[in-house]
Amino acid sequence: MDKTLILSWILLLCIPAAAVYSQYYSETMPCVPKEKQVTNLHFFFHGTIGGNNPTAVPVARANITSTSNSIVVDDAPLTVGPEPTSEVIGNAQGLEVFADRDTTTVVVYLDFGFTKGQFDGSSIILFSRNPVTQKERELAVVGGRGTFRMAKGFALLRTYSLDKITLIVEYNVTVIHY
Ligand SMILES: *[C@@H]1O[C@H](CO)[C@@H](O)[C@H](O)[C@H]1NC(C)=O
Ligand SMILES: *[C@@H]1O[C@H](CO)[C@@H](O)[C@H](O)[C@H]1NC(C)=O
Repeated sequence: MDKTLILSWILLLCIPAAAVYSQYYSETMPCVPKEKQVTNLHFFFHGTIGGNNPTAVPVARANITSTSNSIVVDDAPLTVGPEPTSEVIGNAQGLEVFADRDTTTVVVYLDFGFTKGQFDGSSIILFSRNPVTQKERELAVVGGRGTFRMAKGFALLRTYSLDKITLIVEYNVTVIHY
């Protein structure tokens, strides 16, 4: 076949396809509710600031001496147990914004993605303030991917250990999803 023939075929095939895309929305219909399910997740978050292998890297800081407002980029491993050698089952990626004027509250925008077991490839999204100096705290789960599509829920956190460069946090997450 010569080139012009191939071109006219492509054009012909494209015309009906283009017609399908003549509007950007569907008809609005009632959403038939499916039964919701609940899954409880339990894991440990390992954060490291500084050192040779940081999981949290500050990328911006206000040039005002009276506050330490900053933005930190995170990629922290999640493990089954609290030990750093415990099996890694996923990672939390996103941002931490030190928004508070006294720096005790961090607002987190984190995607907790799982890489092992039944939830491999799925993730839960946390978008919440995190009052890090409180022993126990609650964060909102606002959505999810994969198995956790359309998720809502909450995460209960407790600091397991904290030293100069490492922070280990226990997470109990209740996720309601379809
Ligand atoms: C911070 O801001 C002041 C005044 O605008 C400027 O003189 C100083 O160089 C800045 N410092 C840094 C580290 O950018
Ligand atoms: C998570 O749940 C377990 C089992 O119920 C409990 O022992 C643990 O204290 C909880 N941790 C948090 C941070 O809520």
